[in-house]
Amino acid sequence: MSTTAQNRFVPAQYREALGRYATGVAIVTCEGDGRGPVGVTVNSFTSLSIDPPLVLWCLDNRSDRADAYLTSDAFAINVLARAQQALSVRFSETGQHDFDGIRYETLATNAPVLPGALAVFDCRVEARHDGGDHTIVVGRVVELVSRDGEPLLFFRGRYRGIGRH
Ligand SMILES: Cc1cc2nc3c(=O)[nH]c(=O)nc-3n(C[C@H](O)[C@H](O)[C@H](O)COP(=O)(O)O)c2cc1C
Repeated sequence: MSTTAQNRFVPAQYREALGRYATGVAIVTCEGDGRGPVGVTVNSFTSLSIDPPLVLWCLDNRSDRADAYLTSDAFAINVLARAQQALSVRFSETGQHDFDGIRYETLATNAPVLPGALAVFDCRVEARHDGGDHTIVVGRVVELVSRDGEPLLFFRGRYRGIGRH
């Protein structure tokens, strides 16, 4: 049940305040549930543990492609470069989570890896936890890629780069 009626703010104020937390942008991919690989744009990625190497992201349960992530035992976090904004837009569009026409590689888990990503964390699912209308997905990193480049940032509902753009 929604608890917003008890709050001293409305949902729009909540979203607006959350948007003041500047983040990077990532595309989380997985092999899918038999209908081919899927990807979704997220900014909820965060590091969780150094030893063991754990990361997490938050999955919107209301999404059509939630099932693919809830049944898959692995995923890859692709941390986007500034030049990959178009990919971020593509994988944030409703229903646009397939890889039709999009080139990718794979590492240990077979989850799609996007060429040009600043970092890739190839993960096996360690745990899933309830988080309101989202599911917290924890992954153990089994392989990674890291390369130089400018990051894609997200702040107050807009894509940004570091410095003046
Ligand atoms: C910058 C940005 C960050 C997002 N972060 C998340 C996220 O952390 N988790 C999530 O499930 N969806 C996130 N979304 C939303 C999804 O990318 C996607 O837009 C949404 O699921 C709608 O597609 P669908 O209706 O086909 O699921 C984010 C979107 C944008 C643009």
